[in-house]
Amino acid sequence: MTDTASQRSGLGTFLAFTVWFLGIGIVLLGARRYLPPVASEHGAGIDAMLLYLLVATGSLVIIGHVVLGYFILRSSRTAKVDAALPSAKAQRVWSVLPAVAMTLIAEGGVLVLGIPVFSQLYTQEPPDNAVVVEVTGEQFTWNVRYPGPDGVFGRTAPTLISQENAIGLDPADVAAADDIQDLALIHVPVNRAVLIKLRSKDVLHSFYLPNHRIKQDAVPGMTIDVWFTPTREGEFELACAELCGFGHYQMRGFLNVVSESEFEQWLADKQAN
Ligand code: CUA
Repeated sequence: MTDTASQRSGLGTFLAFTVWFLGIGIVLLGARRYLPPVASEHGAGIDAMLLYLLVATGSLVIIGHVVLGYFILRSSRTAKVDAALPSAKAQRVWSVLPAVAMTLIAEGGVLVLGIPVFSQLYTQEPPDNAVVVEVTGEQFTWNVRYPGPDGVFGRTAPTLISQENAIGLDPADVAAADDIQDLALIHVPVNRAVLIKLRSKDVLHSFYLPNHRIKQDAVPGMTIDVWFTPTREGEFELACAELCGFGHYQMRGFLNVVSESEFEQWLADKQAN
């Protein structure tokens, strides 16, 4: 080997290993746990889908980098590198084949794992015994309302909204009298479905319960149903996941998941006030 050829070979080896370590290193660095522990029934399904997607796409990145590194290494050991184009047919085959394979592996797998979870979340009706809570996003808090003993939410109207009446509840409506209201704090019993009637007073917000793998936009003028079943007691963060204005960062609340008896007690206490 001449001096320049061996220098080039050394550079090639260095490049090849840099490409390998970068590819594999990026995947391993990104593979740390970044979601809080699951606290809802469907959460494990969402996590399985995310994990599959990470492993599938991560493996593709690693395989791609190993192949790239191999070609760098191989070319660096040849004195003369040819740049002849492969045939049009070979180019077609090697464009279509990986594209189809990646689509099947990444998209196909996500659909297989994701469709049962999404159909539960978006097409199935919540069970009849679900706790119904209305949550109205506003700049910059969450208004929480329960229908009270009559099980009916009182009428609201935008024209009735004032400093004292955040959601514009109509006092003339008989169903409004027993409604229970709270701010940025949602109480629910454990192991019972929760149906959130999601609304917004002003702009787009996003109702985000990281532990429960729930994220849904709140859209002004619409009432959007979201339901899930909490499986663990505790205090969980509620965040707004839509940049909704200067105070967006303040739109923090909590989901308090308690036992059935504690929940009944809490409701009774609230009704007494
Ligand atoms: Cu509401 Cu961000």
